Amino acid sequence: MAIEFREVTKAYPDGTVAVDELSLTVEDGTITVLVGPSGCGKTTSLRMVNRMVEPTSGTVLVNGADVRDADPALLRRGIGYVIQHAGLFPHRTVLSNIATVPMLSGWDRRKALARAEELLDTVGLPAELGTRYPAQLSGGQQQRVGVARALAADPPVLLMDEPFSAVDPVVREGLQDELLRLQSQLGKTIVFVTHDIDEAMRLGDRVAVLRVGGKLAQYGTPSEVLRHPVDDFVAGFVGRDRGYRGLSFLSAEDVRVEEVPTVRLGETGLVAAPHWRLAVNDRGEPRGWLAPESGVDGPLAESDLLAGGSLYRRGTPIRGALDAALSSPASLGVVVDDEGRALGVVTASQVLDVIERHPEGVAAT
Ligand SMILES: Nc1ncnc2c1ncn2[C@@H]1O[C@H](COP(=O)(O)OP(=O)(O)OP(=O)(O)O)[C@@H](O)[C@H]1O
Ligand SMILES: [Mg+2]
Repeated sequence: MAIEFREVTKAYPDGTVAVDELSLTVEDGTITVLVGPSGCGKTTSLRMVNRMVEPTSGTVLVNGADVRDADPALLRRGIGYVIQHAGLFPHRTVLSNIATVPMLSGWDRRKALARAEELLDTVGLPAELGTRYPAQLSGGQQQRVGVARALAADPPVLLMDEPFSAVDPVVREGLQDELLRLQSQLGKTIVFVTHDIDEAMRLGDRVAVLRVGGKLAQYGTPSEVLRHPVDDFVAGFVGRDRGYRGLSFLSAEDVRVEEVPTVRLGETGLVAAPHWRLAVNDRGEPRGWLAPESGVDGPLAESDLLAGGSLYRRGTPIRGALDAALSSPASLGVVVDDEGRALGVVTASQVLDVIERHPEGVAAT
């Protein structure tokens, strides 16, 4: 179900123009992220989709139909809405919170609660939490319940207003992963609001950058916005380190992978060698590094090795290759195949060569 804004303007009664002639289309089954500084009209734009705010002029269409022609209560039942701090009802249990919309839609209580239990699992929460009250959950758990509640009636459209901004960065990343996983199964049409550009780039199929005054500055894929910001405002907003962020969109495919001397766990009689050796287990998976000039008398054990260094998988973004090289005690980034077996190594300077050549042809998005 596509969502279309056609020259939508919202001026509040005090004269504040929150949204100014916004035109953009959110394609069916995709995530569009609205991103921009505080007060640029993100929440107002979102709320015009479910008629919590009415436009001053212009039209919002959901699935080709003008939302003005829909009954607001019915419209909202078909559109999931998730907000910061989850907005749960404090005096209702978790299950009863999740079952809210199905009950409003006339489902019987048993069926609605059964659906709620299923959704707890879908969003990765244990069944025991169902009988608790929101205040007895962590912030991240509350947000998951908020997502479950929005999904309860299986709406084709989800509106999410800074749903993860109240939780710490680690929990937030978990929630983002969960949302991407759910989306790959559910294929909803999602409008997601954030002021966090990294979150926008991570989640969005397309990203709409708004500026204060409610004007759309740029609308495109994350890669387009990062590589070709239309003006200084967008360039500034996507950040000074956008060269580094842009690495997410270059593939590591072009980095030459070198062979590396390897040793096997359990191998005996290892004499010292002048170079680093990569230790692998019986399956060929990297387990660590044997430092130069170290020999091992007995069978090679993990305790003889220097751990450390992230791994990256062939064909993944080049950022992973650079991280692997920079984090390796041997300064050699280990590349593995889909089964996790070591294929070889790359150096940071080989990765940087590829980045510096910056061939547009290796864009991976
Ligand atoms: N009910 C209202 N009456 C008057 N002005 C309003 C009202 N709601 C929002 N505004 C103004 O409209 C502009 C856009 O507000 P909006 O809440 O859409 O911004 P936002 O991008 O969601 O900001 P934030 O990132 O801080 O949530 C702001 O200047 C705000 O003060
Ligand atoms: Mg807002």
